[in-house]
Amino acid sequence: MPDELQERARFDFVRYANCWEDADVLIEALRPGPGRRILSVASGGDNSFALAAAGAEVVAADLSAAQLACAELKIAAIRRLDHAGVLAFLGIRPAEDRLGVYARLRPDLTPAAAAFWDATPAAVSGGIVHAGKFERYFGLFRRRVLPLAHGRRRVAALLSPRPVAERRAFHDRRWNNLRWRMIFHVFFSRFIMGRLGRDPEFFRYVEGSVADRILARARYALTELPTHANPYLSYILTGNFTHALPPYLEPERFDALREGLQRVTLFRGTVQDAAAAHAARGFDGFNLSDIFEYLDPPACADIFRRLLAHARPGARLAYWNMLAPRSHPAELDGRVRPLPELSTRLFQNDRAFFYSAFVVEECLGSEA
Ligand SMILES: C[S@@+](CC[C@H](N)C(=O)[O-])C[C@H]1O[C@@H](n2cnc3c(N)ncnc32)[C@H](O)[C@@H]1O
Repeated sequence: MPDELQERARFDFVRYANCWEDADVLIEALRPGPGRRILSVASGGDNSFALAAAGAEVVAADLSAAQLACAELKIAAIRRLDHAGVLAFLGIRPAEDRLGVYARLRPDLTPAAAAFWDATPAAVSGGIVHAGKFERYFGLFRRRVLPLAHGRRRVAALLSPRPVAERRAFHDRRWNNLRWRMIFHVFFSRFIMGRLGRDPEFFRYVEGSVADRILARARYALTELPTHANPYLSYILTGNFTHALPPYLEPERFDALREGLQRVTLFRGTVQDAAAAHAARGFDGFNLSDIFEYLDPPACADIFRRLLAHARPGARLAYWNMLAPRSHPAELDGRVRPLPELSTRLFQNDRAFFYSAFVVEECLGSEA
């Protein structure tokens, strides 16, 4: 594992119960469809599922057994339950007996995933979309910090449908007060985010003020994009996907999702190793989440080289930068070209507002 990240960060718990990256942006970047093969960082599974629902064959890889256990249990729920049942079991809608439902889904799980969830019944009964460390961090923000700046009524007003001009006026006159800016600076400071939301190791390579950059992006998401249709914002401010569902769970995609899950293969290990293990037919697209964020440039270059060895000509790479600027290394200029206009256009529609860039690049050829 490059840079020994695996040793330094702990992977024995669910860090992300949901994918905190906008699947619709990813879908436009990677053009999933019948016959196309995509290698995707699994995380909570959501975006790999959305790519499969759009027709692609997906290998979803993650270093973390806990993340794969999360993806597996979601797959079992989607296969066995109807749409309302899935939302209830996952914790998006109320449910009476999630542990009873879990007992029914359990035979579908691998022994590793079953052992993981058997050991954490409170996570199952609370709804697994709330079971991640990152979600708990947002919960702390919502319960303890957000009320210092905004009450429930104002949050509800922010999330209600209205035209862009009114969103701008609401943000500038009512939302963006001194307290809002202050809590952003305190709560999203590198120290606190490192301690509570992310492993401090992940911040070793990050420069600059976390809060300033996220605050500017937050303004964009609260004004230029429809707030009522933003599942990421809904979760952060209300503690659930109350106003909007993550793309993979939208009711109109449910049949395609169920069908698409037959084309999802989970892989425990790095995306680089997954690429080699599933090398026979190569890949047309790579969803790399923001894995480069946490790595130094030589480690990033190593991953690019290893993925390119299994890229079909014209394959696309898609990934996010949060605070550390990352793109393909100069040594691969002849084999990868950036798609800056597409990247910029998609970034403008990105509803998950913590990132500083969305990068889409195209592979020009493959190493035989
Ligand atoms: C990169 S993290 C970031 C998630 C999200 N963007 C965020 O910051 O909130 C998503 C997942 O990537 C996994 N991961 C990190 N590096 C990886 C690699 N090289 N191959 C496969 N999975 C990796 C982690 O275990 C984690 O579950």
